[in-house]
Amino acid sequence: MNPSEDKTYLYMKKLVTKNYKLDLFDRFSDNKFIENNEELKKIGEEIINNFSKHQNLKIHFFADICAAPGCYSQIILDNFDIINGIGISLPYEEGGVKFEIEDKKFKKIYKNILDNKYRLDLPIKLDLGIGSCMSYQYNAKISNKLNLQLIIKSIYLLLPNFKKSSSLIINMSMKNIFIAFNLINIISKYFKNIKLWKSSNIWATKNTFYLFGYDFIENKNITNELNNLFILIDNEKNDIYNKFIGTNEEYNKINKMINNIYYIRINAWKKLIESQNITAN
Ligand SMILES: C[S@@+](CC[C@H](N)C(=O)[O-])C[C@H]1O[C@@H](n2cnc3c(N)ncnc32)[C@H](O)[C@@H]1O
Repeated sequence: MNPSEDKTYLYMKKLVTKNYKLDLFDRFSDNKFIENNEELKKIGEEIINNFSKHQNLKIHFFADICAAPGCYSQIILDNFDIINGIGISLPYEEGGVKFEIEDKKFKKIYKNILDNKYRLDLPIKLDLGIGSCMSYQYNAKISNKLNLQLIIKSIYLLLPNFKKSSSLIINMSMKNIFIAFNLINIISKYFKNIKLWKSSNIWATKNTFYLFGYDFIENKNITNELNNLFILIDNEKNDIYNKFIGTNEEYNKINKMINNIYYIRINAWKKLIESQNITAN
């Protein structure tokens, strides 16, 4: 039950460690992160296609956490019979990006979701919640911790507003593989079915992948449980950072799903290495 000893994981890690210099990218200008809307639109289309594949989803009301500039929200508005959507994102003055979406059905809110007291109290339950937060911090150590807090705060805001049949789309990271396994395991208990997905086209060499949750399982204790999770991740010495907390069966199920994600990343690295060799010759 140790994800860091899986053969495919080790192969992927070796490939990345040996070649990381081929994939350095700097998206900061004047100390400000530059968002790439074209990439967001492309991956957004892929996310929504793959999320809705083979599912009969009725989505009328959705919330998008860390939504600006609004590419995913626009795709959701274009693809479903939406009555209302709401997007929350960091104010520009605090380092966020601006919303570029204009739609009468979509309400834009500028707010730092990590503000301690921030909750999402909605008058009606959501059909879909989506979260794709990114901290935009230069310092990798600060950025990893922040990204983790952002994922947990996103589900903390969304899940209490879910009903039976609600779905979740959330971006995850395999930067710390134990955290990835433990979070997948925790989130999967709130849904009848989950899928892991990674694009082979956009950010395929990166740590990111997506979790889709279908058919929410209602749970009165959810706010407390997610609050505890927030406290757990504050201490990097906690087991959640360095061992899988779950059963053998749960481990095997997650390992099988995440192996498909490793292969997508491995193939992307192989392609990148091959293209560099061709250029060098
Ligand atoms: C990758 S972008 C999301 C793109 C968006 N899904 C789209 O389709 O256009 C990450 C977003 O997270 C937001 N963000 C980062 N930290 C945040 C915070 N503490 N509170 C709210 N939003 C935050 C950023 O401002 C940015 O808009």
